[in-house]
Amino acid sequence: MTKYTRRQFIRTTSSALAAASVAPFSSLKNFTVAPSDTVNIALIGCRSMGFGDLTNALNVEGVNCIGLCDVDQNILENRSADVEQMTGETPELYSDYRKLLENDDLDAVIVGTPDHWHCLQTVHALEAGKHVYVEKPLANSIAEINVMKKAANYYGHVVQVGQQQRSGAHWQRVVDLVQSGHLGKIRQVDLWGNFGYGIGADPVENSPVPEGVDYNMWLGPAPNRAFNQNHFHGSWRFFWPYGGGVQTDWGVHLLDIALWAMEVEGMPNSIHSIGGIFSGMDRAIEVTDTQTTTYAFDDFNMEWKHTGGLEIGPYNRHYGIAFIGNKGTLVVNRESWEIIPVEGEDDRPLVERISEEGDSSYHDVHANNFIESIRGNETAAAPIEAGHLAAMYAHLGNLSYLTGDTLKWYSTGELVDEHEYSDIIKPDYRNPWTFPSI
Ligand SMILES: NC(=O)c1ccc[n+]([C@@H]2O[C@H](COP(=O)([O-])OP(=O)(O)OC[C@H]3O[C@@H](n4cnc5c(N)ncnc54)[C@H](O)[C@@H]3O)[C@@H](O)[C@H]2O)c1
Repeated sequence: MTKYTRRQFIRTTSSALAAASVAPFSSLKNFTVAPSDTVNIALIGCRSMGFGDLTNALNVEGVNCIGLCDVDQNILENRSADVEQMTGETPELYSDYRKLLENDDLDAVIVGTPDHWHCLQTVHALEAGKHVYVEKPLANSIAEINVMKKAANYYGHVVQVGQQQRSGAHWQRVVDLVQSGHLGKIRQVDLWGNFGYGIGADPVENSPVPEGVDYNMWLGPAPNRAFNQNHFHGSWRFFWPYGGGVQTDWGVHLLDIALWAMEVEGMPNSIHSIGGIFSGMDRAIEVTDTQTTTYAFDDFNMEWKHTGGLEIGPYNRHYGIAFIGNKGTLVVNRESWEIIPVEGEDDRPLVERISEEGDSSYHDVHANNFIESIRGNETAAAPIEAGHLAAMYAHLGNLSYLTGDTLKWYSTGELVDEHEYSDIIKPDYRNPWTFPSI
């Protein structure tokens, strides 16, 4: 395969992502609807991040929360009280999202459920004519993210993925700097996420399903399994049927920025991933606690690394991205960014040394951008293509790790030996749930 062929494939298969590279507020001028127009939203999955997303959306003028849906009645009632306190309104409560989607007054949903639910709930919401804010990673498998992208393009409603860094001013500045050539030729992009939580929780015995929880509906399309607190609220991300570990949990946030900055819109030349459970052998974890994934491109390398259980890392940051250029290295995370110059002749720096604080308002800006996209005033900052690409890179890392294979592509764009990986690529949905077809 020639370089030209690969580049050409990348451009032709993912042209829509190019639009996502544009800074998100470029279409602010084209108001077609007054910004105060009412948008009725509901939240599916209310415990943690989803509720944060809802709160951010409710800060936008003209947004009403008309429904909450959760399979845990305790959470549902507590969050209902929270919404009432914030807004003075009482949302309708649902334990089955399909009933919620029948509500004709509903314009949009936020999907804040565990990853194994994102695909069905997003596709069903789009089918019902609703706009969707879906949390990252886009879903828990490659086949799911593919069908979600198809559905989003088919139905044409707004989809905003919870890759909120795209709405952060300092992330946009970093992307501009990398793309401008300021750092010289970029030859290496390092991404890392070292988090204490990355080795899983202390193990506990299986236990009865807590009162008020519809566990069957929590499992949904995932395989049946005895209840255990460790693969339930919050810690499900360490078990393959529901999540992909730190590579998909945090990896997508950083991969998203790295791919955007490097103007990558398709697949690399190869992917290889190694790792295992090397520290948390006695912990509640099925995914890796230690993993390194390398992505080879024509003229630069990219590497993702996580070592769970500790919070130290390169450049004194436990997570971040380093763009290593011939004139300087740009290091960034949510807290701050800096440029470390390369020194040339006479020890003179080839670029200016810069160090700046990060912008912390991006969650609000991202929610606002979703609502304004529904109103037709803006374009989603993290559209389906951005969610799809970042999730694809993260899931392919896990696919390489799980199979031990180096992943490569034919010049036609198909993954070599893809048929051998079908069990990992596409989950076998449990009855009565069926895999969506578009
Ligand atoms: N964008 C970010 O920075 C960010 C940060 C944290 C989490 N997340 C993402 O948010 C999502 C949720 O993560 P979390 O940590 O809040 O999980 P969580 O386990 O704390 O909350 C999930 C909620 O979904 C509910 N739920 C499960 N199945 C349901 C169903 N069928 N119908 C309705 N409700 C259902 C659960 O009862 C729970 O209340 C994940 O995809 C995660 O990756 C994103």
